[in-house]
Amino acid sequence: MLEAKKQKKDIFDTIFLIMKGLYAPVHEVYTGLKLKTIPVEACMIFGVVSYVCILLGLHEWTFQLLKVGQIYPERLFWFHVYNNFWLFSGFIFWGIIQVALRRKLVNTLTEVFINAGLKSGLGKLPGFISDRALDSEARKLTLLKNQIPVKSFEAAKDVLEGALQVHIDAIEDRKEKGTVDIFYAHTELKRLIKATGLDSLKPNTYVVGHTRSKVITAHLGKVPHLMVVGQTDMGKSTFLRQAIVGLYLNNPRMTFTLVDLKEGLEFQAFENTKRIEVYDELDGTVTALSKVHEKLMHRMKLIKQAKCKDIQELALKSHSDLKDLGVDPKECQFGRHIIVVDEVAEMFLIKKGSAAERVQEARRVIDKIARQGRAAGFHLMLATQRPDVKSMDPRVKSNLAATMCYPMRDITSSVTAINSRRAFDLPTIKGRAIWQCGYDCHEIQTGFLDKSEAEEIMQPYVLSKKEIKKEDSSCEVEPSQNVAEVILDEG
Ligand SMILES: Nc1ncnc2c1ncn2[C@@H]1O[C@H](COP(=O)(O)OP(=O)(O)OP(=O)(O)O)[C@@H](O)[C@H]1O
Ligand SMILES: [Mg+2]
Repeated sequence: MLEAKKQKKDIFDTIFLIMKGLYAPVHEVYTGLKLKTIPVEACMIFGVVSYVCILLGLHEWTFQLLKVGQIYPERLFWFHVYNNFWLFSGFIFWGIIQVALRRKLVNTLTEVFINAGLKSGLGKLPGFISDRALDSEARKLTLLKNQIPVKSFEAAKDVLEGALQVHIDAIEDRKEKGTVDIFYAHTELKRLIKATGLDSLKPNTYVVGHTRSKVITAHLGKVPHLMVVGQTDMGKSTFLRQAIVGLYLNNPRMTFTLVDLKEGLEFQAFENTKRIEVYDELDGTVTALSKVHEKLMHRMKLIKQAKCKDIQELALKSHSDLKDLGVDPKECQFGRHIIVVDEVAEMFLIKKGSAAERVQEARRVIDKIARQGRAAGFHLMLATQRPDVKSMDPRVKSNLAATMCYPMRDITSSVTAINSRRAFDLPTIKGRAIWQCGYDCHEIQTGFLDKSEAEEIMQPYVLSKKEIKKEDSSCEVEPSQNVAEVILDEG
């Protein structure tokens, strides 16, 4: 009886050990798949090749060679288990390699901490908690401080970088948890990247930011609308400023409606400028958005009448084709229009009072542009500190294809903005953000362009007093001879 009990216990212990041993690699695979850091193709090829080898009987020869024929899975059930194991073996081996690398890292870290003199008064070294991949390039190492001040970690930065052969982006104290987060990667992402070359971008394109290896740009045709989110003072308005300047300089027919209801200071560099209208109060904004709505409806009517799906297709129609369809080619001469709202919550949060009705109208227009703007060449760039349902209409949000998300204070806000905690796992560096567009997700540093630089660039385009008087409030551009020229010369 006792013997049987002991045997049972041994079996359970063995199963427990196997499960424990498997958990770590399986967890690595799960995280790798989630963060897209696992080389899926290579793992699949490895698995399929192994599977084919089994089907060809090559594995029997291996069993004989290794003299382990007695453990050959003879029974059909175990043979299937064995077969399927090899089919997924690429993933499992990748997980095992990651676990081994992590063990190696822990050993290296212990040595590095000793060499760097990172010890508490009681002689304790920092404790290893986790080392997580944040994306294909960046990682976050979390250590227990063990009463070592964060200044000591900062002082040991060079030693850590040299020993681990990495670049440390930031070292952040998590006082409430008694831990320290070290953000690192194998290549550097600078803390300050000046926005340069804004006058030589491709038409309809703006610079999104710099990753560790490349510059990302977005084309309005592919990324029609954009949401910019993030806690205060992280760089939302600065990003919008450089995007507006880039688009303005390279698209001579593009027009802009810029709205800043917060303080009215963000778009000062663009005031009294050709092709740009700036609003800093609600009434003017609502009236301007109503006009934008009228234009949108008119363009949609023309596009339908010309039997096209969008302005790009309309641009390719010849004048005679348009005339045959009863459309006046002169009416089709328009460029794209950009509507930028800095702190959109200022608009969405007004729910009561006399302004509520007007605000409702403005929201309806924004909703309509978010849904139909792409085809008609109207594009939204909406910035907000809070991406929640109160501050941003969920229907509008669902139509914004791309999100630029600056560091978020908590996981919930990050998940609300980009459906992942990635913005919470960003070092608190000004201009550092997550760019999410479809399945693409990158950590970027956005280009820096301060107000005075923007003012200097925009200086040649400022209207004279005489021109201001003359300027048509509809902000239309001069007509061109050719429809295609108007839209296609902008991409
Ligand atoms: N890309 C950048 N690189 C370096 N520093 C930056 C960058 N963008 C912004 N900053 C710095 O951060 C400060 C705040 O930027 P900005 O006003 O754009 O923040 P914000 O997110 O719009 O803040 P708020 O929500 O309060 O309006 C700037 O004055 C500038 O010094
Ligand atoms: Mg701002």
